[in-house]
Amino acid sequence: MQVLIETHMNVPTNNARNLRVKRCLTTLILTLLVCVASTTSWAQINNSPRNIAALTLEAQQLTKTYMRTLKKTLQGSIIASGPAASINVCSASTPAIEQSLNTQHNWHVARTSTRIRNPNNRPDPWELRVLQNFATKIKKGAPVKSLEETAVVNLNGKPAFRYMKAIPVGNVCLTCHGRKISGNVATAINDHYPLDQAKGYRKGELRGAFTLYKYLN
Ligand code: HEC
Repeated sequence: MQVLIETHMNVPTNNARNLRVKRCLTTLILTLLVCVASTTSWAQINNSPRNIAALTLEAQQLTKTYMRTLKKTLQGSIIASGPAASINVCSASTPAIEQSLNTQHNWHVARTSTRIRNPNNRPDPWELRVLQNFATKIKKGAPVKSLEETAVVNLNGKPAFRYMKAIPVGNVCLTCHGRKISGNVATAINDHYPLDQAKGYRKGELRGAFTLYKYLN
């Protein structure tokens, strides 16, 4: 009789315990599955020097295309409508150029800097470290143009190849990033980018970097 009562009273408790155990097991299995999936994805990465060299070459070539397209758009616009109106063109066409390269090539391309004009170009912690390394190397005498960096990292939970290339300030850049910016250009910059930090550069200084990444699976 006692056993019966106990059994009777224990039914809901046992059910609740079973449910808890089941939930625990499901969570455990799911966690294990996620772990296995992520180890598999990392294990599947081809990290060989040969593949890294191939990815680096791809990144370098895409950077050249990106640089040429930006330069052509900027120069064309300055000639056609002057530097002040080109601020409009820069802010509208840069994201469009980047978007088109991203979809065509399966890479993510952008520019960044420690002193940004567009807040969307703020460096993430890896990019900031690379920019700081570039600055240290430049102080020790390295030419800005020679600086690049590659890495295989965990980006947003996925393995990715990353590439950065330093950008020096050239003569043409001074119109919009230099120390003496003409009145109408300065006004256009302030209108579009009230938080601008990208003025006051001298020729030859490190302006920022091209920054590219590609997920590896
Ligand atoms: C006509 C004015 C103009 C000229 C000339 C110009 N820039 Fe810019 N630059 C801009 C504007 C506007 C932005 C913000 C673009 C955006 O919204 O993405 C910008 C952004 C950048 C950025 C991205 C980081 C940030 O600050 O947001 C880099 C790097 C950069 N410029 C480098 C250069 C270099 C190098 C040159 C010379 C080869 C140059 N720029 C010439 C107007 C100019």
